[in-house]
Amino acid sequence: MVLNFKKLQIIPTYLNLKYPKTSFKFINNGEQSKIKKESISLARQLQAKIKSTGPISVAEYMKEVLTNPVSGYYMHRNVIGGNGDFITSPELGQLFGEMVAIWCFNEWQKIGSPIPLQLVEMGPGHGSLAEDVLRVFDRFGVRNEVSLHLVEVSPYLSQMQAQTLCEKTIRPSEPTQLYYQLGTTAKNIPVFWYNSIQDVPRQFSCFLAHEFFDALPIHKFQRTEAGWREILIDIDPAADTVKFRYVISRMSTPASKVLIKADEKRDHVEVCAEGGVILQHLATRLEEDGGFALFADYGHDGSKTDTFRGFRDHQLHDALVDPGSADLTADVDFSYFKTCTEDKLLTFGPVTQREFLKRMGIDIRLQILLKNCDEKQRENLLLGYHMMVDQDKMGERFKLFSLFPSVLKEHLIRFPVTGFADS
Ligand SMILES: C[S@@+](CC[C@H](N)C(=O)[O-])C[C@H]1O[C@@H](n2cnc3c(N)ncnc32)[C@H](O)[C@@H]1O
Repeated sequence: MVLNFKKLQIIPTYLNLKYPKTSFKFINNGEQSKIKKESISLARQLQAKIKSTGPISVAEYMKEVLTNPVSGYYMHRNVIGGNGDFITSPELGQLFGEMVAIWCFNEWQKIGSPIPLQLVEMGPGHGSLAEDVLRVFDRFGVRNEVSLHLVEVSPYLSQMQAQTLCEKTIRPSEPTQLYYQLGTTAKNIPVFWYNSIQDVPRQFSCFLAHEFFDALPIHKFQRTEAGWREILIDIDPAADTVKFRYVISRMSTPASKVLIKADEKRDHVEVCAEGGVILQHLATRLEEDGGFALFADYGHDGSKTDTFRGFRDHQLHDALVDPGSADLTADVDFSYFKTCTEDKLLTFGPVTQREFLKRMGIDIRLQILLKNCDEKQRENLLLGYHMMVDQDKMGERFKLFSLFPSVLKEHLIRFPVTGFADS
């Protein structure tokens, strides 16, 4: 990788561009009875499994409930938006995606714009963040050098992403291909879909993940007098219908032996081992192939304890009731991500979404857009802005976290990572 160190001031240029995007993307699904049936069938499968092999880990429960190929929560319907179960920042209009795009473009330029550039997004939802990033890159004249790589397990959402991003897509029948879907955008940018990050080609890449890691399975542990014990999920023998309950393992489990830090101070801990594996993979790639990563999620720096919960219809929902009918999620422990990558990477953050967006110039961009829109767009822009930035909404709870290869240490001391410290 050839590095051409320089500091660029591209942000003011972009903030003045004028093109308001439409508005919210609320999508109707109205499939309540189908969801209920799938939930009953998933509950029965889980019950059969627990009956035959004993209580399962929270990670196993979460993985089945969210991504079981037949009835997993994410797999066959739209769950994001006004008629879904939760709303995310990239769905609140163009402001969030534009700030992320400017960040990516700026960091890429600071290290000499290595090409070809792979933009890789994990868990892209409707594809709105990728759409915003490609649009901004296009406005900066970056076209032929870029390709987009999406890591998505949901067949349904991969179709939605294709509709958002591509003019045409194909699903190759060749079993040797690592991607399962291929498309091209209106500007001829190739888009590839994969089931796993491991399948994305090894090249210089900018990795993005928005509300992806919180959807990955977590293990839960409790400190007891006998030492650390894993929290498991069992069926309640006293209940007439299928009812799940938490139990505490009698003995230590393989997970409780390897996933708890020796100096852990908390009494209850959640560990996302699958996220840790992805982080270790990214660390190797960033070190060997070059690139950087930006994650946004609700999370903490190793201080929180019990955060596992469900969301249905924009309300908190008991994670053990009607599995598959509600989103399951846990706050991301960024301190764990640091531990997984510290031998290879520099990490920045977590900083609050409010701090990040304000440092990236969201207020200036908002003012420019407000000058060029109609009344309805104005209402949507302001609503989205306040949802994303206000301290009592997403502004404080959501955090931004970034990763760079250690070889850039001196460079990043001279030219600090945008958005993560006051300049
Ligand atoms: C909470 S949604 C966030 C969507 C989008 N990033 C946003 O913020 O609007 C989680 C996304 O990750 C995908 N996902 C969940 N588990 C995954 C996994 N193990 N591998 C790949 N994608 C996954 C879901 O299908 C969905 O697209």
